[in-house]
Amino acid sequence: MMDLITLAIVSFLYILPAYIANSSAALFGGGMPLDLGRKLGNHRILGDGKTFRGLALGVLFGAAAGNVIGYALTGTEFALGSIWFYTILGFLLSGGAMAGDLIKSFFKRRLGYKRGQMLPIIDQLDFIIGAVALGSMAYIPSLETVIFLIIITPLIHLLLNVIGFLLKLKKVPW
Ligand code: CTP
Ligand code: MG
Repeated sequence: MMDLITLAIVSFLYILPAYIANSSAALFGGGMPLDLGRKLGNHRILGDGKTFRGLALGVLFGAAAGNVIGYALTGTEFALGSIWFYTILGFLLSGGAMAGDLIKSFFKRRLGYKRGQMLPIIDQLDFIIGAVALGSMAYIPSLETVIFLIIITPLIHLLLNVIGFLLKLKKVPW
């Protein structure tokens, strides 16, 4: 097994487009919801938290991140492929991240959870699972990387939220 520092570098580089996609959707999303306000039974299909702008900008910035990573890694020992390979991988990882998040919201609504209502662990891992699944069309990460990301992502999420709280950007530290 590779040492932990190498595992962390390789894993973060791999998943970065999905992280960027997810944060871009949260930062720049809003406007028209993907379900156009429609319901399935008593509940919204997806809810107001899933919008066209969030989806489009998430995938766009995620694919752009893949392109930049490919450019930066060209000629280094970490490079797994061409700039094209990284751009496509970035696109698949961010598309998968957005899809995982949408599927999660679909099932949250079916269970009666309101938009934004917490579903711990699943809320933090939905996009990782979607990203790894769709990204695997271009590149299958090692099992160590997947396990590392599943453990570290909820912790990073918590840390960022505490920082946001301390900076008074958020009302609650989670
Ligand atoms: N967002 C968006 N479009 C998307 C995904 C996210 O506009 N496709 C934005 C929304 O403003 C959303 C925020 O990012 O409120 C945070 O995303 P998330 O936590 O996934 O949504 P929630 O509001 O918590 O809704 P849900 O209960 O459906 O998870
Ligand atoms: Mg949420």
